[in-house]
Amino acid sequence: MDPQKTFLDVVRNRKSIRSFGPDGVDPSVVRRILELATNAPTNCNQQAWNFIVVTDAATKERLVTEAASNTNIRRAPVVVVVTYDGWNFKEAIQGASLAVGHMLLAAEYYGLGALPMNSYGADSGVKYILGIPDTERICCFVLLGYPDTRAEKATKVPRKPLAEALHEGAFGHSRRPPFVYDPDRWTLETLRYHQRYYCRKTSLGKEMDIMSGHERVLVKRELSGMRFPALDLCSYDGSFIREFPHGPLHTVDLTEETAAYTLAAVEQQAPHTLPLLTNTVYDEHAPRLFPGAVQTVTMIYRLERLPSDVRKALFTKTYATLERGGELIIIARHANVFLKIFFTAVKWYFGPDVRTTGIYAFFGPYRPIRIFQTVGELRRAGFSTIAWSGYFPIPTFYEQVCQMFLQYRKSEGSSYLHREIRSTVISRLLSRLLAFQGFLRAGVCGSVVVIRCKK
Ligand SMILES: Cc1cc2nc3c(=O)[nH]c(=O)nc-3n(C[C@H](O)[C@H](O)[C@H](O)COP(=O)(O)O)c2cc1C
Repeated sequence: MDPQKTFLDVVRNRKSIRSFGPDGVDPSVVRRILELATNAPTNCNQQAWNFIVVTDAATKERLVTEAASNTNIRRAPVVVVVTYDGWNFKEAIQGASLAVGHMLLAAEYYGLGALPMNSYGADSGVKYILGIPDTERICCFVLLGYPDTRAEKATKVPRKPLAEALHEGAFGHSRRPPFVYDPDRWTLETLRYHQRYYCRKTSLGKEMDIMSGHERVLVKRELSGMRFPALDLCSYDGSFIREFPHGPLHTVDLTEETAAYTLAAVEQQAPHTLPLLTNTVYDEHAPRLFPGAVQTVTMIYRLERLPSDVRKALFTKTYATLERGGELIIIARHANVFLKIFFTAVKWYFGPDVRTTGIYAFFGPYRPIRIFQTVGELRRAGFSTIAWSGYFPIPTFYEQVCQMFLQYRKSEGSSYLHREIRSTVISRLLSRLLAFQGFLRAGVCGSVVVIRCKK
């Protein structure tokens, strides 16, 4: 504890910590944090909260494997499960949340890192493992421990200006992205607004996309002969940079936040590429993407996420940026029959709000492309030599979808990610089927297309 810390330091410096150092936490410190938590107000002063402190590795393991809790809890020295008498839902969430708020500030005061966590899995599983009676409602888990160096160094997640949330007298104008799947109902401005805050929802540089090993191998194969200097468009979580051959690479992101995200991701996943990497933010008013010479422009699984006007502008600027003889390489998911069925089923089951699934994971909207429409747009942007091929009639990310579904079931509908890999008859069958499918060319029947355009 730093005796110089003021209340303002504590409030302003608190941030979520998701990776912890090896030191355990003295139980007396946990006790002090919980005592401070009990200073929080409650409805009618009921104080009907309970704090279950879990430090034992075997219990954490059971929570992960049996209740589908976020695998992060394995690495947290202390897990506090916060519950509240559940006779009244509103009071339970209000009372417990205020206690959690106090806990987080108390942890910051005592020099500990903390993470409030709602991806704790299935309520029934957690209750069974920890012996929590059915009369209780689980609010969330709070992970506690000493931050590791990376977590300590991480900058704070940006906040929206207060003016955006402040309404004088009555609810006024509110900025809200459309949160629909269809990219054409988003604009460059709403995409940027969304990404600026949302891309930092977890640790900076964490890989966000849902990609299969096959799709990754395809990227590596297609990029293997590419010429440099190259430019990668909308790199966002930087998850494909490690598949690029080595050479001078410039990445262009939509916002400063996503640009920082790309750099952090590359730092973690492909540090050897850093000396040759530069990174800027897309300038929609500039005629080119980059002032220097560029031999190759890549867009790897990004086209599906862009409104058509942004897409068309990027094509035109790519054409203007490329050297004569230079190449644009696009890899994107394509609306083949299986993907159409998949997306129709997702939207039917979860509804039109893209936030109800993990699909929008920080970039925003999502819609597999249509090849003939895209080729038409590329021609209009100036490209005359366009070749394309399709792969994977059965979408290979079905393997991931299968795992997400298992996590969804196991967590009683509360999460899809942070999962243990589970082996079932269906997942094993699917792996075999996809391995059998391999990399055969599938033309318009493919769920992924590779488009190559020469200037
Ligand atoms: C109730 C609650 C539940 C949360 N659940 C998770 C979670 O399951 N996983 C996670 O990584 N972060 C979780 N967070 C952390 C938020 O992502 C984080 O608070 C937010 O991005 C703001 O960052 P900051 O806490 O560093 O200021 C949760 C936060 C709250 C308040």
